[in-house]
Amino acid sequence: MSEKRQILVTNALPYANAALHLGHILEYTQTDVWVRFQKMRGHECYYVSADDAHGTAIMLKADEKGITAEQHISEMRSLHEADFKDFLIGVDSYHTTHSEENRIFSELIYNRLKANGHIAQRSITQAFDPEKELFLADRYVKGTCPKCKAADQYGDNCEACGATYSPVDLINPVSVISGATPIEKESVHYFFKLPEFTDFLKEWVATDSVQKEVANKLGEWLDGGLQEWDISRDAPYFGFEIPDAPGKYFYVWLDAPIGYMASFKHLCDLKGIDFDHYWKKNSTTELYHFIGKDIVNFHALFWPAMLKSAEYRTPTKVCVHGFVTVNGKKMSKSRGTFINARCYLDHLNPEYLRYYYASKLSGSVEDIDLNLEDFIQKVNSDLVGKVINIASRCAKFVTNGNDGVLSENIENPALWNQVSGVSTTVAEHYENRDYGKAMREIMAQADAANEYIAAKEPWKLNKDPEQQQKVQDICSLGINLFRVILAMLKPVLPATAIAGEEFLNDTLAWNSIDKPLTNHRISIFTPLMKRIEKETVEAMVEASKEDLETITSNVATGPLADEPLADEISFDDFIKVDLRVAKIVEADHVKGADKLLRLTLDMGGEIRQVFSGIKSSYDPKSLEGRLTVLVANLAPRKMRFGMSEGMVLAAADDQGIYLLEPDSGAKPGQRVT
Ligand code: MSP
Ligand code: ZN
Repeated sequence: MSEKRQILVTNALPYANAALHLGHILEYTQTDVWVRFQKMRGHECYYVSADDAHGTAIMLKADEKGITAEQHISEMRSLHEADFKDFLIGVDSYHTTHSEENRIFSELIYNRLKANGHIAQRSITQAFDPEKELFLADRYVKGTCPKCKAADQYGDNCEACGATYSPVDLINPVSVISGATPIEKESVHYFFKLPEFTDFLKEWVATDSVQKEVANKLGEWLDGGLQEWDISRDAPYFGFEIPDAPGKYFYVWLDAPIGYMASFKHLCDLKGIDFDHYWKKNSTTELYHFIGKDIVNFHALFWPAMLKSAEYRTPTKVCVHGFVTVNGKKMSKSRGTFINARCYLDHLNPEYLRYYYASKLSGSVEDIDLNLEDFIQKVNSDLVGKVINIASRCAKFVTNGNDGVLSENIENPALWNQVSGVSTTVAEHYENRDYGKAMREIMAQADAANEYIAAKEPWKLNKDPEQQQKVQDICSLGINLFRVILAMLKPVLPATAIAGEEFLNDTLAWNSIDKPLTNHRISIFTPLMKRIEKETVEAMVEASKEDLETITSNVATGPLADEPLADEISFDDFIKVDLRVAKIVEADHVKGADKLLRLTLDMGGEIRQVFSGIKSSYDPKSLEGRLTVLVANLAPRKMRFGMSEGMVLAAADDQGIYLLEPDSGAKPGQRVT
């Protein structure tokens, strides 16, 4: 094996305002498998993580719960740590960004950026909530779009017409937090001069530091021109105060990646590791960040530039993964597919999901679908049906026939060489994060082992006293093949690997994969993994729906709190709105619109064209032929793409959009009351 590498690995620090869900677990599994693989190869590899504990959202969440931010983040941290542990995510250090180490590094780095002339300072005007006395980020202001007059739009862009604007341009803006009308207020902000790092970043991207698809995206941003980055926020803010700037705080995304250093420093202090050796400029160690595709700009633009300015090393690689969908769709609370990590753990073995994710990961940024049927099928057939089966078919013959001692003969050297020989290829796949390929290669060898045993039929030979040695040789090879396969799966199935080590009476290590166990005593075999029952998965989905019910019935945190009921109206007010059943006869994408679909509606003879912001949740072709409800007497609106003659009704939240549909039998044109 090549020389010993020194590798520091991180995953994206989960926000301390929400529970972990199966989307997070994809990332933490991907990272953990890679780390376990590196450790198993004998490299020095540290895996650090932390809770991302700062920012307005966390401050508001604590307010809502009526506790201090410190209490809130400490509760969340315990929950996150327990989820990590129970999903067998073997972090070496789990810290928090609200730590002394992080304060020290954040101040140090900021002071270096400033000393190097990379901090600008100027006054900006923002929306301000006069009741809460709080500056409002764009997503905390809602109002009517100044362009198309659509109601209830966020402060930065309109979902109906696609216009972008600033919150102060909204008609009748309200603060989402207090309901007050925001005012405009000036304040001084601090900016990181990112554009000065354009050339440096182009070079960094060219060093194979990100996947090709990501490099292309970064290339677009870099060529399009970078903007200075606003790194300060005004009090009240839960975070670190900026040195020499009372009332100004570091924006959460400034100190969050510094949290990687802080968590590692915490580990260094405990274990006597040399921090500077890992972080100094031009360090020979490797630094890997695993992140999702939504936070590439922070990790591949701001972060390397900050490190460069502060004279630290830059990341070796930023490894970007896609998003988890469940059964082909965005995770959804109403469908019960927004599954919290804890809810999964209450029902199922973490290694099932680790294996399933591994089998789907490829090192690309493509989204990953957790198809629950396929999940059951794949785990049962691969892990239980193929891998565990090898040992359970062979062990009893060795235990009963030879007192548990494996034969000294290799019954089929060609087969042994083939199976143990793939470990080199499998190692390459792990290194490249192409776990799917690694799993397929391993399962092909499990198939070969099972075919071998089936063809030799040791259970038949065993009846013949003359064939006892043969039976021992066959079953001992079976156990040895099982050992190789389990060793290669060890990064994915750490708990089963431990149980397997007890059974084999051996430590599964990469560098001994090609040395078979001969004349070696094994222990009694006990089944290492159970099949997944369909009912258990169904129960988990049901429980995820229940989670939602408790959330919606709790007015303090549910949709009713997010969007309080509007003022009471009379029946006469209501019937002014003419709602009609409409049939979607055609649905098409709109060139240049991110969110809109063009719907051609039949209202019982009259044809209408409506633009609707439902693109994110619907494939247009799947809508054709469906009935829906149209606000038919809404004044037509001129949009960038043409006239919109009415509005179709849908419910929406950040998980999806749910178009209203009358029961079958309703006829186009019928009034809805
Ligand atoms: N706190 C920031 C990261 C700071 S790193 C210095 C953050 N937190 S997060 O909790 O929203 O997300 C943590 C990680 O989980 C991110 O890499 C994000 O991409 C990933 N995922 C969140 N939802 C996901 C899916 N549905 N699928 C896959 N990964 C997802 O971002
Ligand atoms: Zn608009």
